[in-house]
Amino acid sequence: MADGPVIQFEKPIVLLGMMGAGKSSLGVRLGEALGLAFRDADAEIEKAAQMSIPEIFEKHGEAAFRDGERRVIQRLLTEGPQVLALGGGAFVNDQTREQILAKAHSIWLDVALDELVRRVQKKPGKRPLLVGQDVRAKLKELQAAREPLYAKADLKVDVGGGTHEDALARLIKALESHLVTPQDA
Ligand code: S3P
Repeated sequence: MADGPVIQFEKPIVLLGMMGAGKSSLGVRLGEALGLAFRDADAEIEKAAQMSIPEIFEKHGEAAFRDGERRVIQRLLTEGPQVLALGGGAFVNDQTREQILAKAHSIWLDVALDELVRRVQKKPGKRPLLVGQDVRAKLKELQAAREPLYAKADLKVDVGGGTHEDALARLIKALESHLVTPQDA
């Protein structure tokens, strides 16, 4: 944004939500807009494991992936103010969720099911939980299980529809109203 950082952050900003919600693509833009570094938990897991997420699932299984995910996020949360995009399942872990709620600003990026289906189908094979599945049915099942936990995030922002710029503007507005108390305004 032309006017520079809107707010000073003392804690990380964590983006969570379903596969296809745009956590990484919006996270990069949010980091740029706020003058904060962007980190992607999935990319950090891949770096630590030196293999892709599909390979981790294939060689070591989901439980090993989840364990690595929990440890990587725990480390990232100690690394100061930044924008951190999570994988869709990360916030389901009780320990991860509790740490995020205590140490970060958390934002659930909400997108309607039809839009999620459309988006994830652009990259078949990227997400092991969807491979060989009825994608819509699987996303719907995951959504039903996860949304009550996503709802514990500090903020929920609808980022479906419109352009990335629209979604980014909604995100920044929600963050501002969450962080700026009336006496600060
Ligand atoms: C997963 C989401 C993926 C990745 C892994 C598992 C999930 O990340 O962490 O495939 O359980 O929803 P994205 O949400 O970035 O696709």
